[in-house]
Amino acid sequence: MSNKTITIAIDGYSSSGKSSMAKALAKKIGYRYIDSGAMYRAVTLYAMRNNMISPDHIVDCDALVASLPHIKIDFKVCEDGQHTILNGEDVESLIRQLDVSNNVSQVAVIPEIRHALVAMQQSFGIEKGIVMDGRDIGTTVFPNAELKIFVNASAETRAMRRHKELIEKGQQSTYEEVLANVVTRDHIDETRKESPLRKADDAILLDNSNMSIAEQDTWLINEYNKAIANNK
Ligand code: DC
Repeated sequence: MSNKTITIAIDGYSSSGKSSMAKALAKKIGYRYIDSGAMYRAVTLYAMRNNMISPDHIVDCDALVASLPHIKIDFKVCEDGQHTILNGEDVESLIRQLDVSNNVSQVAVIPEIRHALVAMQQSFGIEKGIVMDGRDIGTTVFPNAELKIFVNASAETRAMRRHKELIEKGQQSTYEEVLANVVTRDHIDETRKESPLRKADDAILLDNSNMSIAEQDTWLINEYNKAIANNK
């Protein structure tokens, strides 16, 4: 392995499997892994708990932006992977629930929230040696990343994967509910004004609809090896 570290940005649609591949790569090459979506989810949980989101998903932006100095997000490495810590509390399983998923896009459109989280994400990556996944990592957070991947799969494939994951975690939801959530989030992510979800011009596109996890992990490690060779 080369001792010259790089920055790796993995963006893509919700439930495209980008987090699993990002985590597996980070573990294999000994890099730090950051799930930027978890940060938007943690802010959303904070807003929900503080009655800043109405049942029809309207966010009290002013109140939430004013609360930013009171929202501290960290990550902790645990036996079963990385956990998200919100103001000292482990919220890893809470932020994955469907009620958070249903509100998070509304929080992620708020420019002040994005600016604050992007600054935090950039500070995590200051020393390189990082794999970060999200929606705007290759375009906004790390535009100079040496390796950028953009992952996609059909909405039905992604909903099936997410539904299976939720069932395995014992969370109640139907496939139709999960598919509706995936389609709605795609639309909000792609059409928001502030850093919409889009492939960076220099990102490598991966459609993993018909790939096994092992195949995608092998594909990614090959791309990493090529990026390291080009970076010498
Ligand atoms: O990857 P995820 O499903 O956990 O992301 C949750 C939400 O956060 C998703 O709807 C889009 C938003 N997000 C974002 O806007 N920018 C990022 N870098 C990461 C996530």
